[in-house]
Amino acid sequence: MDCIRILCAAGAIAVASTAAGQQPAAAGNPEVARAHISMCTGCHTIPGYQASFPRVYRVPKIGGQSAKYIEAALQGYKKGERDHPTMQAIAKGLTDQQIADIAAYYAARGAEAAK
Ligand code: HEC
Repeated sequence: MDCIRILCAAGAIAVASTAAGQQPAAAGNPEVARAHISMCTGCHTIPGYQASFPRVYRVPKIGGQSAKYIEAALQGYKKGERDHPTMQAIAKGLTDQQIADIAAYYAARGAEAAK
């Protein structure tokens, strides 16, 4: 399954870079977001919502949250208003547009994204 996911991500990056020139950067685009989701799934799609490195901790479910909520949470980590080292590092690596895209993706996929 992991191999398939990587192939999907690679395909999405190719699609995203061709689409980027044609689409105005406005609201979040869930299709573009697919390229970034591969780095979230490792932690956010685990059954029981737990990750085990460097210790076992709970990871909140994000699929099915509203786009506004996810966007606000990621911006909070990016600005340092929300305090979690891992998520801060991840959010700081994302542009505002990528955050909007990711928020739209998880909101649109709903519970599906949590599988
Ligand atoms: C290394 C594991 C890890 C990765 C990778 C990761 N996250 Fe997280 N994420 C967490 C943990 C742990 C929390 C809970 C942090 C806290 O308690 O504030 C969290 C919290 C969140 C929240 C807030 C949820 C809430 O209900 O408060 C959002 C939104 C989120 N992550 C989105 C993402 C996105 C989008 C990605 C990919 C770009 C991602 N995460 C990658 C571990 C991870």
